[in-house]
Amino acid sequence: MNKHALVLAAGKGTRMKTKLPKCAFPIHKKPMIEYIIESLEASSIDETCVVVGHQRKVIENILDGRVSFAYQEKQLGTGHAAMAAEDVLGKKEGTTLILLGDMPLIDETTIDNILSTHEKLNNDLTVVTTNYLDPSGYGRIIRDKYGKIESIVEDKECTEEQRNIQEVNTGIYAIDNQYLFETLKHIQKSAYRDEYYLTDIVHLMRHDYTVGTYTIRDNAIVMGVNDLYAISIAEKVLRDSINREFMKSGVSMINPETITIGHNVRIEENVTIYPNTTITGESTIAEGAHIGPNTEIHNGIIHKGVTVEHSLIHDSVVHERATIGPFAHLRNNAHIGRDNRIGNFVEVKKSTTGANTKASHLAYIGDTTTGANVNFGCGSITVNYDGKEKHQTDIGDDVFIGCNTNLVAPISVGDNVFIAAGSTVTENVPSGALAIARNKQINKADYARNLIKPKGQTVEDAKEDKTE
Ligand code: UD1
Ligand code: CA
Repeated sequence: MNKHALVLAAGKGTRMKTKLPKCAFPIHKKPMIEYIIESLEASSIDETCVVVGHQRKVIENILDGRVSFAYQEKQLGTGHAAMAAEDVLGKKEGTTLILLGDMPLIDETTIDNILSTHEKLNNDLTVVTTNYLDPSGYGRIIRDKYGKIESIVEDKECTEEQRNIQEVNTGIYAIDNQYLFETLKHIQKSAYRDEYYLTDIVHLMRHDYTVGTYTIRDNAIVMGVNDLYAISIAEKVLRDSINREFMKSGVSMINPETITIGHNVRIEENVTIYPNTTITGESTIAEGAHIGPNTEIHNGIIHKGVTVEHSLIHDSVVHERATIGPFAHLRNNAHIGRDNRIGNFVEVKKSTTGANTKASHLAYIGDTTTGANVNFGCGSITVNYDGKEKHQTDIGDDVFIGCNTNLVAPISVGDNVFIAAGSTVTENVPSGALAIARNKQINKADYARNLIKPKGQTVEDAKEDKTE
């Protein structure tokens, strides 16, 4: 039996009050719709069609190459959105699982359980329901006196009595694909709004087809995200479940409610994460690392035994046992070698360092290749930008760069070089050389008293005193 998924993501998300289309809104830096597609990819679904409409390009770019798209030009409701998929899915045989693009917490196990129950019960339509203590905002499940599903009534359209029903429509349906497109043709516009409700398929099908329900116990998994408050709830649910899994597999978290780990992050055993730390994107943290407090890592590869405190690491790699921070910033392909020390207020951009290299304080290393055993003194700067273009700096092994040195790129420094503190180096330095590039010091004997004033006097007063 072929299994198709149909995801409705054409809506604007008016209740979000943001510019991005709702399904593209990020949760832990990843668009909401991507969570759903990842779960579908991990499930037994064979192919997925996503209905796009409002700002379609944004969603299409996010999912490019992973799904097929149908287009709903005007957003006339969920039933109308499903109809838009007829060109893509209309002729197919099999079961279609309909999902809404605003349920980011759905997982592959739940998806497969729904599909297997639908098959086992031999249903033509299975409506997936759940229960909430506070069901407001959701469509309510109306059952007849035998307990059989009769219809779904939207929150705003409920009678007082219906409003108390805690069983709600999750917006997920498993349905025979041919019956879906036949039934959609019969949906009428709602009496209350300028919309075609997908929920109408229930009362349209209930007499002539086998219609059943499947109830999900963990209601958080199928929550619909309609506004920014719901985003925060989804983030919290996701955070708690991800952190719980990591802690159970040997990752120690201090104050875990302040720690956010993204969906695609891998963390090995015996790692400790300290408060206020966020690790997102395609990041990996290897065994024995200590990360945080107050640290943000996005697309970072952190090797064994590394320590990172109070720092930012974006799109960068840190090799074994290096220590990063406090207050370091690695970005845009910084590759930090093993046993490095990148310390206080050091920024490294698009640069590689060899083993045992150190920049302990106040340095900028940009567009640079650095060998092993290099010491960047306090205040060292690779001057990579001339106002128009970026230029490259190459530094060999065993180089000592004195404090407050400017290396004006493009420039190359050989092996075993010593650069005197305060130098502004504009010419290449050959291996083995001592480079001094600063004015020679002049000491004017007995002159300072002309300039230093005793307390309460002006410099002029002091000069007069001396001439008397
Ligand atoms: C919907 C259900 C409600 C259910 C709830 C579960 C309907 C009529 N209501 O309500 O019963 O309890 O989800 O979370 O189906 N969309 C389109 N085109 C449109 C309108 C919507 O593609 O014209 C997409 C949206 O992008 C969104 C999804 O459909 O991803 C759901 O739309 P939304 O407006 O959030 O529906 P709810 O009011 O939450
Ligand atoms: Ca919704």
